[in-house]
Amino acid sequence: MQNKVIVVFGGAGGIGAEVAARLAAGGARVVIADLNSAEAGATAAGIVAGGGQAVGVACDITDPGQCDRAAQAAVDEFGQLDGVVNCAGISRPHDSISLPPADWARMVDVQLNGAFYAAQACARHMWDAGGAIVFITSTNAEAAFPRRAAYCSAKAGVAMLTKVLAIEWAERRIRVNAVGPAYVATGMTQRNIAAGHIDEAQIKARIPLGRLAQPADVADAVSFLLSEQASFITGHSLYVDGGWLAYGYF
Ligand SMILES: NC(=O)c1ccc[n+]([C@@H]2O[C@H](COP(=O)([O-])OP(=O)(O)OC[C@H]3O[C@@H](n4cnc5c(N)ncnc54)[C@H](O)[C@@H]3O)[C@@H](O)[C@H]2O)c1
Repeated sequence: MQNKVIVVFGGAGGIGAEVAARLAAGGARVVIADLNSAEAGATAAGIVAGGGQAVGVACDITDPGQCDRAAQAAVDEFGQLDGVVNCAGISRPHDSISLPPADWARMVDVQLNGAFYAAQACARHMWDAGGAIVFITSTNAEAAFPRRAAYCSAKAGVAMLTKVLAIEWAERRIRVNAVGPAYVATGMTQRNIAAGHIDEAQIKARIPLGRLAQPADVADAVSFLLSEQASFITGHSLYVDGGWLAYGYF
């Protein structure tokens, strides 16, 4: 990662903040692009205070123009753009029968449309020199959960987007992969536990390795897929799930 320039969408908190810190610790220069611009700046400042290089920029990933500006910020600030990680996301479980169309649309906009806008904006700067893109999907790209119709559909869409962009941009030496976690100990999961959408004990019992993922578990996989060690891996979804998808027993 030494001297690589990586844009981390949704990098202000949760998985994204851990990914940004991990990449910076490996010598990357990081642009943290997040809807929460204050937190993006604070996360970047924390990296700089630790001796790394990072800047925070405001970006609503559902706006292609703002994604363009985040990609341009990498070039303006650090002179190049080598990689993208998209960690932006929301989770709003709701019964499908009464799900308001606006909520469906917002979920698809943030999780699926935003992934495309972010990748497209950054790939334009990687077109000649190549690069790597990693989307954060979810075990929900493969496994259906009730009350998550939009979330599961959008994540499955991103898993397919991963494959399409991978084969289309391979000739430009842009690799595209996804990391799909099961439940990760972040603010998103804490909010779902607090709202009664999930039961932590039940979730842990369902995971063969018996614990929630830590953001560091996800950052390890992202860091690998961005690195030269993964130079022949593209169009792949790597599930960091403690065995969730493999488990089909009681
Ligand atoms: N936490 C989990 O258990 C879990 C499991 C599987 C997949 N995921 C996925 O991982 C990703 C990160 O989740 P997390 O747990 O770190 O969540 P989080 O809520 O802790 O962080 C999400 C980040 O995305 C940002 N964001 C939200 N909407 C945005 C927008 N429109 N534009 C730009 N940034 C925006 C938020 O400000 C925040 O910084 C999401 O895509 C989520 O669906 C999470």
